Amino acid sequence: MNKKKILPVVTIDGPGGSGKGTISQLLADRLGWHMLDSGALYRLLAQAAVSHAVALDDAEALKVLAINLDVQFVAASTPSGESGVLLEGNDVSRIIRTEGIGSMASQVAALPLVRGALLERQRAFLQPPGLVADGRDMGTVVFSDAPLKIYLTASAEERAQRRFKQLKDKGESVSLAALLEDIKARDHRDMNRATAPLKPADDAVVLDSTSMTINQVLDYIVKELEGRQLT
Ligand code: DC
Repeated sequence: MNKKKILPVVTIDGPGGSGKGTISQLLADRLGWHMLDSGALYRLLAQAAVSHAVALDDAEALKVLAINLDVQFVAASTPSGESGVLLEGNDVSRIIRTEGIGSMASQVAALPLVRGALLERQRAFLQPPGLVADGRDMGTVVFSDAPLKIYLTASAEERAQRRFKQLKDKGESVSLAALLEDIKARDHRDMNRATAPLKPADDAVVLDSTSMTINQVLDYIVKELEGRQLT
């Protein structure tokens, strides 16, 4: 029996800064479902590569690191608190969110051996009562038979603005122009890699959030779920 056919999964793919992370978390909270932040796994692998001095193009060594990645996702201890993540027992919640690690994550994610090594780990997140899966290839590869697939996008300029505000709020000093360049470079790498490139699944609902609020996006997705009798 195929677990994926029985348990509901919503995939939310799209480029960085499209609001996927925020929307996925809010949706998972609203539905009481689990959430997979697949980008965090690639970020954690990049961080592990840094701490073990593994080169970002050493596919074999990265594959071994990926298979043995010692990760723990820790739920927020207060309703307003952020959930955290431990790598080999160390709290890396903040560092893996930096632009530097994001860019390294995009590099390791381009390697087919790395993607293969993380596949089953991602699928194991599908547990009752359901899963919201956030990433780049959730609908095309990891959960290709998901009953609802969303491809969330927004203009590069809008995404750079959102990221700028997010980082400023966290006290990181960044330049908007540099962020825009970085977003464009990351889009290019994620969309043009040979394995599991970022693109909407053939049966995805494409949603441009450039001029939508978070609640509008959320309501739209909930309606799609209701229309498919998934809630
Ligand atoms: O969503 P994010 O910014 O945390 O993802 C970091 C990088 O990881 C992103 O540039 C591409 C890669 N990634 C991927 O290739 N496949 C996924 N399912 C998720 C992320």
